[in-house]
Amino acid sequence: MTDITRKTALITGAGSGIGRALALCLTQEGAARVILTDVNREGLEETADQVRNAGGTAETFLLDVSDKDGVYDFAETVAREFGGADIVINNAGVAQVANVDELTYDDFEWVMNIDFWGMVYGTKAFLPQLQQKGAGHIVNVSSLFGIIAAPRQAAYNSAKFAIRGFTEALAHEMRETAIRVSSVHPGGIKTNIVRNARFLQSTSAGERQEAASNFDKIARTSPAKAAEIIVQGIKKDRRRILIGMDARLIDLIQRLFPSRYGFIFKKGLLGPAD
Ligand SMILES: NC(=O)c1ccc[n+]([C@@H]2O[C@H](COP(=O)([O-])OP(=O)(O)OC[C@H]3O[C@@H](n4cnc5c(N)ncnc54)[C@H](O)[C@@H]3O)[C@@H](O)[C@H]2O)c1
Repeated sequence: MTDITRKTALITGAGSGIGRALALCLTQEGAARVILTDVNREGLEETADQVRNAGGTAETFLLDVSDKDGVYDFAETVAREFGGADIVINNAGVAQVANVDELTYDDFEWVMNIDFWGMVYGTKAFLPQLQQKGAGHIVNVSSLFGIIAAPRQAAYNSAKFAIRGFTEALAHEMRETAIRVSSVHPGGIKTNIVRNARFLQSTSAGERQEAASNFDKIARTSPAKAAEIIVQGIKKDRRRILIGMDARLIDLIQRLFPSRYGFIFKKGLLGPAD
């Protein structure tokens, strides 16, 4: 069991969506403080205000998770000013929509640098603090798309599958320690992820808006519910945290049809069928 009360929890990508909801949920669970980071200052301060209004303590830092040196400097600051983190949630992420033959290396690297390398830096920079304390919890946010691959999601799939591989390897390595490791796999969560996504340059503003509206229709789980499930998973030391009926159903379909699950896209189980 991971006890959250009086702990210091750090969340990347805390200026919106799941990260913001996690900050509030951890506060309600009695965390001593939440350390919030994002590249979006406005979003970050809004989250901090909500935490403080809920009676919690929030510290904010502008941090680009894809900046390796920046993440290591930040880890030193957290060690010096707050005695290190107890719970580290690598949540920051971006999405990209393009077929492989159209996907540019620039966009591919953008996704990998933030989603994958950001998670690696966040884990490796903070792991020594947890090891020094002899306990703690690392939570890496993958996706349902770290379990199944989807058309036009090759970059995102690559990052999210890699997060799962990295996180599961770390969990095995930490088995004999008091450091717990969780891999999080949300289905559709109603956040800004699609609004913040990169599309092909040829995609019009109207098409982007339509993609965001379609996502809002199929994303049934609220960020607050997602955060509650993640926090319960942290408390119960769950290695894999699936979020939403969609994620649980599609995880089952993947197990039953490991190489033939692609029919779910035709049936529109993940949104409007092509
Ligand atoms: N929303 C979903 O349906 C869904 C499903 C599966 C997985 N996820 C994952 O959940 C996580 C949170 O996403 P969300 O849905 O809350 O989206 P969101 O867009 O609402 O929030 C993501 C946050 O990450 C921040 N961010 C982006 N680039 C960053 C960088 N370089 N450094 C630091 N912060 C950065 C953004 O500013 C934003 O505040 C992501 O890892 C995402 O891939 C989301």
